[in-house]
Amino acid sequence: MSASDPPARIHRRQYLRGATACALASALPNQQSLAAAGKTVTLRFSHVVAQETPKGLAAQRFKTLTEQRSDGRIQVLLYPDGQLYGDQDEIQALQLGAVDMLAPSLSKFGRIGFPEFELFDLPFLFGQVADVRRITQGPLGKRLLERLGRQGLTGLGYFDNGFKQMSANRPLLAPADFAGLRMRVQASRVIAAQMRALGAQPVTLAFSETRRALETGVVDGTENPISNFWTQGMHEVQSDLSLTEHGYLGYAVVVNQRFWQSLSGADSALLGQALREALAYGNDIADAQNDKALAALRQAGTTRIHSLSETQRARLRQTVEPVHRALANRIGLSWMDAMRDALKQGA
Ligand code: LMR
Repeated sequence: MSASDPPARIHRRQYLRGATACALASALPNQQSLAAAGKTVTLRFSHVVAQETPKGLAAQRFKTLTEQRSDGRIQVLLYPDGQLYGDQDEIQALQLGAVDMLAPSLSKFGRIGFPEFELFDLPFLFGQVADVRRITQGPLGKRLLERLGRQGLTGLGYFDNGFKQMSANRPLLAPADFAGLRMRVQASRVIAAQMRALGAQPVTLAFSETRRALETGVVDGTENPISNFWTQGMHEVQSDLSLTEHGYLGYAVVVNQRFWQSLSGADSALLGQALREALAYGNDIADAQNDKALAALRQAGTTRIHSLSETQRARLRQTVEPVHRALANRIGLSWMDAMRDALKQGA
């Protein structure tokens, strides 16, 4: 553990306040001089999902590669499952230097001043992951990551979880099935608008609070790829999962800019290479992890699983179509145009 890790009993928020005063003043110069001297570097990587998810496994791979290649000189401390910070405070913690690396979902950048990232949330935008790549691997993806510099973040890359499904205590196969349901959403206006278009009421909640909110009836349903649904035990509190595949969930890896600049060239190259390989690995296993979770879910028998016919999917798609136009101004018309151009290329 590095000296700046919060003691277990100190509440995260309390620690954050303390971190405001001391993280930049002490931890960072310390890291700086250590990195410059080719000595130990500690990178704290916090995320909100379980280890056995595409993100959890990619983070683990990054740690293994980094530590192997640096002979343990660069240490990666992983804090999965929101054990250190949740959705509400992780980006602030990164900006303060209380942690060094995060991989928030792309949906979570809108509320910190980058609504253009919400283009990834547009329902039924991507037919397959290859479509997502046309954005993330091209100039548009690069420009989006560069934007993050305005908030003291350095964006290092993207990777997938996969396509989202809908859950509730009833099948969700037609717009009428959503009527009046309170659906947990991430803090994305596009996703909120999608739920409203379906006739549901969106309720923004942190990921770590979702299972409990489903259990206690604070919300009736939610959306997520199956790996997140399964590893959070949401199947224990939701009777029906509908395989709608209506939207994409992916991540951007971000680091604290000052931390990144404080590294020696050799260390940032080593970390950059380890990360590229870890993200490629994460992308390779993402589908398999979601398939594995689906198989486990079928085996558990707690939750009915519904496939949608083409007609049912088309009906849902038609219902949420107006969201693209309605949210275009929020995302930004030039970003929308660039996104359409990127999707056309190679299509
Ligand atoms: C969610 O909040 O539903 C997801 O973004 C969690 C995650 O990071 O996969």
